[in-house]
Amino acid sequence: MPTSQLAVPKYLKQDELTQECRNLLSSLPTEKGWVTSTLYKYQGFWHPCRHLQGVLSCQKHFEAQDTDILLVSTPKSGTTWLKAILFALINRTHFLKPHDNHPLLSNNPHVLVPFLELKLYLEKEENPDLSSLSSPRLFSTHMPYVSLPTSVHDSQSKLVYLCRNPKDALVSLWFFTNKLRIQEMGASPLEEVFEKFCRGVSIYGPFWDHVLGYWEESLKNPKKVLFLKYEEMKEQPEVHLRKLADFLGYSFSSKEEEERMVDGILEICSFENLSKLKVNEEGKLPSGEDYSAFFRKGEVGDWKNHLTAEMVERLDKICEEKFDGSGLKF
Ligand code: A3P
Repeated sequence: MPTSQLAVPKYLKQDELTQECRNLLSSLPTEKGWVTSTLYKYQGFWHPCRHLQGVLSCQKHFEAQDTDILLVSTPKSGTTWLKAILFALINRTHFLKPHDNHPLLSNNPHVLVPFLELKLYLEKEENPDLSSLSSPRLFSTHMPYVSLPTSVHDSQSKLVYLCRNPKDALVSLWFFTNKLRIQEMGASPLEEVFEKFCRGVSIYGPFWDHVLGYWEESLKNPKKVLFLKYEEMKEQPEVHLRKLADFLGYSFSSKEEEERMVDGILEICSFENLSKLKVNEEGKLPSGEDYSAFFRKGEVGDWKNHLTAEMVERLDKICEEKFDGSGLKF
């Protein structure tokens, strides 16, 4: 039965597209999706049609402010974690109140730091009024560098970019997308999604082009783009949290250091804490994804348990070629 006839979650629906988006879709290259039936290639990157609608609306309407902070990431690179950290960092007066009232204890990080193109410019309306949000506004996006709205470039807004070893990102995406596939679709075999990933066909892929776009910009303009890796965050979370705070102009004062604010933020945002909260175990995004799907293992190197030696060799070779000369290594 076609998915359109089943009781499908919102993220699988293809309605509610503007005429402009429909016209564009008909002119774009397509591939079979990992979850949705089709992915469309727009400005060099692959998107399901709903996401593309969000990207277009965002490009047309989003007006960045100088104080805005945008967390940009490749899918499955720890966005949920960094959303929590950014929120806790910027809103750290919450730590002055009783800890059991912290918003992260009763709200999923995706609600506190919404995706521009997946939530604000898609679920709310084509051009939502964001002017009443308090400053600094915290948003996130998976949009590739080439697709960012022009106001982001024209403003003094800051971009924090997060990516992850492609082997772990692929395995994490495989598990995640299989959770999003409704029962009737069955799970995708790893071999199938691996082939697609290697050809660059994954959501917001090609992975390497996404990463390189922000890597190069972070080298050219280090005050605008901070480039972070999941593995480095896991290895030295305190170092990277302080780096993040300094980059955003929210450095920790000596009093805050004495009060062990860094540890407090990392503790509340830890996988162990967030994944066990009732809200994250039981809640859902308005678009239908279970919050629990965003918390799996939270470890570095799980690819070793899933990819064959041939897969590893092939993906390593692709990455070596793609990142050659860039100075970037995973
Ligand atoms: P795994 O599937 O490898 O476990 P995203 O948030 O970008 O969708 O990425 C999801 C990945 O980040 C998942 O990886 C998830 O388990 C991990 N993750 C979620 N919350 C985390 C946290 N607080 N700390 C570390 N990793 C976390």
